[in-house]
Amino acid sequence: MLDPDCENCPLGGVRVGARGETQAPIVFVGESPGLQEIKLRKPFMGQSGKVLNSVLPNDIPYYITNAVQCFPKAKDPAKMAKAAKCCNSRLEHELRNLETKPKIIVAMGNPAMWSLTGNYALKITQERGKLFPSDLSEHGIIPVLHPAALLRGMGSYRKFVKDIEYANDLARGESPRIPPKYTYEVPETLSDVNAAIHKIKDLPLLIGDIETGGLNNRTDPLLCLGVTWKPKHVIIFSEEFIQDLKPLFQGSAKWVWHNGKFDIAFLRREGLNAKVDEDTMLLSYCLDENPGLHDLEQVSSDLLGAPDYKYMVKPYLPKKTTSYTNIPKDVLHDYAHLDCGNTEGIFQIMRNQVKRDPSLELLYTKTLIPASELLYHVEHNGFLVDQEQLKKNDIRLEKQIEEEASKLNEIAGYSINANSPIQMSKLLYDDLGLKGRGRSTNKKSLEKLPQNHPAIIALKAFRKVAKARSTYVTGLAKRLFDDGRVHPTFLLHGTKTGRLACRGPNLQNIPRDAELRNQFIAPKGYILIEVDLNQAELRCLAALSGDEAMCEIYNSDGMSLHDEVATALFGPNWDSEQKMRAKAVNFGIVYGREAYSLAEEFNTSTSEGQRMINSWFARFPKAHQFIQICRQAPMKNQTLVTLFGRKKRFGLVTKHNLKDLQNEAANFPHQSIASDITLHAAIRVRPKLTKMDTRIVNLVHDSIVMEVPNNPETINNVKHLVIKTMRQVPIDWGITRVPFIADAKEGTRWGSLKKVA
Ligand code: URA
Repeated sequence: MLDPDCENCPLGGVRVGARGETQAPIVFVGESPGLQEIKLRKPFMGQSGKVLNSVLPNDIPYYITNAVQCFPKAKDPAKMAKAAKCCNSRLEHELRNLETKPKIIVAMGNPAMWSLTGNYALKITQERGKLFPSDLSEHGIIPVLHPAALLRGMGSYRKFVKDIEYANDLARGESPRIPPKYTYEVPETLSDVNAAIHKIKDLPLLIGDIETGGLNNRTDPLLCLGVTWKPKHVIIFSEEFIQDLKPLFQGSAKWVWHNGKFDIAFLRREGLNAKVDEDTMLLSYCLDENPGLHDLEQVSSDLLGAPDYKYMVKPYLPKKTTSYTNIPKDVLHDYAHLDCGNTEGIFQIMRNQVKRDPSLELLYTKTLIPASELLYHVEHNGFLVDQEQLKKNDIRLEKQIEEEASKLNEIAGYSINANSPIQMSKLLYDDLGLKGRGRSTNKKSLEKLPQNHPAIIALKAFRKVAKARSTYVTGLAKRLFDDGRVHPTFLLHGTKTGRLACRGPNLQNIPRDAELRNQFIAPKGYILIEVDLNQAELRCLAALSGDEAMCEIYNSDGMSLHDEVATALFGPNWDSEQKMRAKAVNFGIVYGREAYSLAEEFNTSTSEGQRMINSWFARFPKAHQFIQICRQAPMKNQTLVTLFGRKKRFGLVTKHNLKDLQNEAANFPHQSIASDITLHAAIRVRPKLTKMDTRIVNLVHDSIVMEVPNNPETINNVKHLVIKTMRQVPIDWGITRVPFIADAKEGTRWGSLKKVA
């Protein structure tokens, strides 16, 4: 065997070789051995090995080796890349000298992929499942996620299994998927454009895709629109004809897009009446709720075997921020026809898969597609920001940051940079002699240090205000548009629970700090109204579990869950502090909070925290039982499904991730349903609100924030409509065991809204 370049390698020590058969048609290449492998001198003998064993073919021989043969003490990516380079000649020699040339090689994780493709810039999350040519095997290399990443809860186990099944099939002698080929035309005169429109506008289904000069639908140019109406052929309407496409969107055709909310925002800006009837990104999310798997390239690669076609445009995009306007038109059109053709290809496959599953069909047609129209409007409206208040907060927080920094200077006895992890580490571990695990000053490590030490208090406070300033003040200022508003993006496919995610900026996690929320205001002549569901998750838990005691409380006028729980925990004469604890337990239960976390909040013992949780469960036995049943789902490999059709599938369950999965399972049904009730209420009221000159400007899980003309009649009508709808949605979806109640608050600044009778 050719020697690796051990001299230059950052690793060293015992080397672990391969296992399996040297005439195998399939080779699995991992990253590097772990301790178990070092002990047994064979690759994949520990936890990752168990995952790998679950997908190894049992009808054909296989061979398993690693990109790096030594044990890395810490998996620093730069070190691993260097080690992979140093071990590459050994790996190549090993694979070339197998008894028979394998049909396929599976590269598990980044280092194996880097080493086998020679491209150290690739990212496994983007490349997994694609076939890379290589003369080391007949069909080449398939990168897949590393089992250890799956064990850490990253990526989709389902996709991992699919990728390996594909590799196993190739090893058994099947042919690689044939990448689809499409033809396309680019009408060059207005009369050609009109003729094309006339031909297709009333067809049953059109599949569209746009290319743009950036992601911002307010400022970036629309470069072309691809449309396909029959398999494998695309029409590209180029930039200069966009204004002439009005009749195309006035026909009776239903439109399919991939993340259509993005496309229609650009098209509507151009005065085109584009709409989302079908959406392949949302179909992909229905089929796998794990975030991060649904971009067009990836889905096309998974379902169609489409090769990486970004390479066509890459030479014209030297930086991540370079605009597509840099791409020559003919290249852009060539690229666009693949985007559009692939959307058609994946649509045909996924639409049928979703149709076959009644829950997913319900979720897709009744929630996701209508929500995509709703969210287009919320994003388009944006939320008005008071720049004076931004400045005030900036000055206030800067002052607080300085105060906390000077406390740290005082503690240190010299001038110290609180932003420098090296200087902070020296202060905490050397100067002050605090004993922790290692020398890190990250959040987790700080938690291991004495929490009441003045340096820890000051450092935590410093970081908290510094983050508040950079995220919610200076960060927000950067996102402001000319209209004085922020226009975030809401993601329907961003969470495993089905809750919405939001970014650019994230308006769902603005802290409940009045001064920060007061940055968001109503325009002149309008007020803000926020309607939120009262104890939505707890009511869902009561309704789903049918717990008699909970249902009784929610069904009787004079009873309050917080009061009842305070009595159950502390007897009839509880005080306000005890009521706060009861409230924390109530909300804690639906978010899976544990005893230690309650104990920490109330500065009490973990056993007291546990006693509170136990008494809650004793008071509401069926709710307890319901949560317990959900918790068992991952172990029993059961899928949880909500009445809105959302699914929670658990994929790989191991002793390492079991607890996390159980917590996710226990929280999923009520959290997911509460957020869908709000989403449905917003979908229903939006068209009516528009008629009242009212716009939804934010959605936060169980609340809807609107800007409403400041006249008493409209205010009354809006409140009445939204409150009524939020109560009605659960009833219409069959949640009738407990009533749902919504409360409205109003004012001109989001942080200072008041309940008005
Ligand atoms: N992970 C690897 O990449 N290789 C092994 O051998 C074991 C775990």
